[in-house]
Amino acid sequence: MNARTALSRREVLVALGLLPLTAAIAAAPSVATPPGKILVAYFSRSGNTRVIAGQIQRALRTRIFEILSVTPYPDDYEQTVEQARQERDRSYEPPLKSLVPDLGSVETLFLGFPIWGETAPPVIRSFLSNHDLSGKTLIPFITHGGYGLGNSLAVVARHAPRARILTGLTMEADQERRTLTTVTEWLGKVAITK
Ligand SMILES: Cc1cc2nc3c(=O)[nH]c(=O)nc-3n(C[C@H](O)[C@H](O)[C@H](O)COP(=O)(O)O)c2cc1C
Repeated sequence: MNARTALSRREVLVALGLLPLTAAIAAAPSVATPPGKILVAYFSRSGNTRVIAGQIQRALRTRIFEILSVTPYPDDYEQTVEQARQERDRSYEPPLKSLVPDLGSVETLFLGFPIWGETAPPVIRSFLSNHDLSGKTLIPFITHGGYGLGNSLAVVARHAPRARILTGLTMEADQERRTLTTVTEWLGKVAITK
């Protein structure tokens, strides 16, 4: 392994700004992967997870892949919530628009997604079912609207049974619902005159 290009877990965290340069690192598995063998794959509807994906890509100079379903979700938020709920309840895995090219060269995968209905979105189950991550390192980064991770990590582990899953990043991020409620209330007060 080329020591100049291999990244330790500590270097990854420092690059992401998650760890001060001087911080001691707790005992944790290390990531010794050249940047060319790291992939950032993510799904994002309203952009929160996309921002993190872009930051990881720029900091570590990795490849990046956006996970998209063949049929996009509705623009309407409530319709998306309802569709996601139905797809979750019947364990539906929507077909993906494309698969990761040259997955064989990937050693470490940063996988990003928002929490939908207290779990991983259906397209994430599709993604994991369609990509064999055996022997690869998987680092999740997950955003949620304030209600936590739900069972998403268990879902990821179940769908990537032979991946080495490290502790990733979890953060609360803006909820589209909150924005919509605020705007709706404000619009209700706007006086429209002809
Ligand atoms: C369909 C749908 C379902 C959601 N369900 C939850 C949920 O169960 N718990 C939660 O905390 N946030 C939930 N959220 C909020 C998102 O997880 C949160 O806003 C996330 O940061 C959005 O990421 P994105 O901008 O990358 O799409 C939901 C959002 C959508 C669109």
